[in-house]
Amino acid sequence: MAAPTEMKSKTEPALSLGPYPTKIGAEELLELIDLWEFTPETRARLQSLIEEDPGLRGPHLFRYYNPRPSKVEAAERAFAELIGVNHCLAVNSCTSALVCAYRALGIGAGDEVIVPAYTFFATAAAAVASNAIPVIVEIDETLCLDPAAVEKAITRRTKAIVPVHMRGAPAQMDAILDVAGRKGLPVIEDVAQAGGGAFGGRRLGSLGKIGCFSFDYYKVHASGEGGFVATDDDWLYTRAQSWHDTAACWRPNRFARERQPGELFCGENYRMSELQGAVALAQIRKTDAMLAGYRRAHRQIKDRIDPAPGMTFRRVPDESGDTSIALVFFLKDAESTRKAMFAMQEMGVPAGGIYDHKVRDWHIFTYWEHILDRKHVAPDGLPWSAVPADELPRYSREMCPRTLDLLGRAIMIDIHWQYTADDCEQIAERINRGLRAGS
Ligand SMILES: Cc1ncc(COP(=O)(O)O)c(C=O)c1O
Repeated sequence: MAAPTEMKSKTEPALSLGPYPTKIGAEELLELIDLWEFTPETRARLQSLIEEDPGLRGPHLFRYYNPRPSKVEAAERAFAELIGVNHCLAVNSCTSALVCAYRALGIGAGDEVIVPAYTFFATAAAAVASNAIPVIVEIDETLCLDPAAVEKAITRRTKAIVPVHMRGAPAQMDAILDVAGRKGLPVIEDVAQAGGGAFGGRRLGSLGKIGCFSFDYYKVHASGEGGFVATDDDWLYTRAQSWHDTAACWRPNRFARERQPGELFCGENYRMSELQGAVALAQIRKTDAMLAGYRRAHRQIKDRIDPAPGMTFRRVPDESGDTSIALVFFLKDAESTRKAMFAMQEMGVPAGGIYDHKVRDWHIFTYWEHILDRKHVAPDGLPWSAVPADELPRYSREMCPRTLDLLGRAIMIDIHWQYTADDCEQIAERINRGLRAGS
């Protein structure tokens, strides 16, 4: 039972108030329990246990000013240890993490960031929301940024390179870091789809200046919604932390005057709640078990596949760092890809094509009309109005033909980390039949 804050009087005895019911109590917990879909018997047992407990104190769901140890803070510490960085900041999504990263680096109007033509739209949209201009660049057989195309796309306005580790596997971080190093540019890793993956023995998200992670429901780690910003850099952490909490807070003394220019500015609110923090913490602890399951199932299915003529597997720059959440291969042409994919889907295989020009998909640049058509949210016309029109990137639906060719010939099999050996055997056998139907 919680009592409200009392003002102490010098002359009067203390007020005798309450006790009151907790702000968040058994009713809210039972709503949460409903999400887990227990059997009616278990739910009834839990309900009576909870309601009869005289000690119910109720949670404190705000991460700050929390009289109890914060789950969000524990998740930040556990994730920083997992990724191998000095700081992890929990936020409410990877989109928010990306905005924090762009803003922490001081990216804004008139700046360009290099993003791949194949990524979830958020990578580019977060740049536009930060008033920056995305420069959209070809991918290669890794399904991630082509380092040579990155180098060609750099201009005097470029302020960051954003490799996205698509579908669980690492981008070519050695070559990308090499280009970035020679040009003096920071790398922001978008690790939304590859949490826990690695390159060259280092976890993804720790190789660039900042790593951005998603914990939305469909990612390796899931807390419904959620994300993390990872960095070794104290200053970037301070600025990201400020942006994520209206920039009125923390750094580390929240009421202190600015210690150096760039410390005070107006931010937004991307805080993670204790509900998400608790789920995220449990998920982080399961990382090794999940990755071991994905990798075992991926290997077993891949080893059993009889490649069709002209078929190649996606190139993975560091196989040991692949989270293995997806198995991707390219067929010889778009027509056989469609045929094989439909045959696999008919047989219940969790297979999908990546690009079909008739199916809208927010992962492919041709559908990003917000960017291609230079949409803006306010009459100021930002971000496009910050640069002379003839210096803006020349966007078109034809500008990345290699990306479209590769994606049009790709089939992706979703892997589940709990597949048994028998599940893998059945899936592989049907993939082989689907491949035969396509050739
Ligand atoms: C590559 C990539 N970046 C960013 C995001 C955005 O993540 P969130 O949903 O957590 O904002 C996603 C989510 O699908 C993604 O796949």
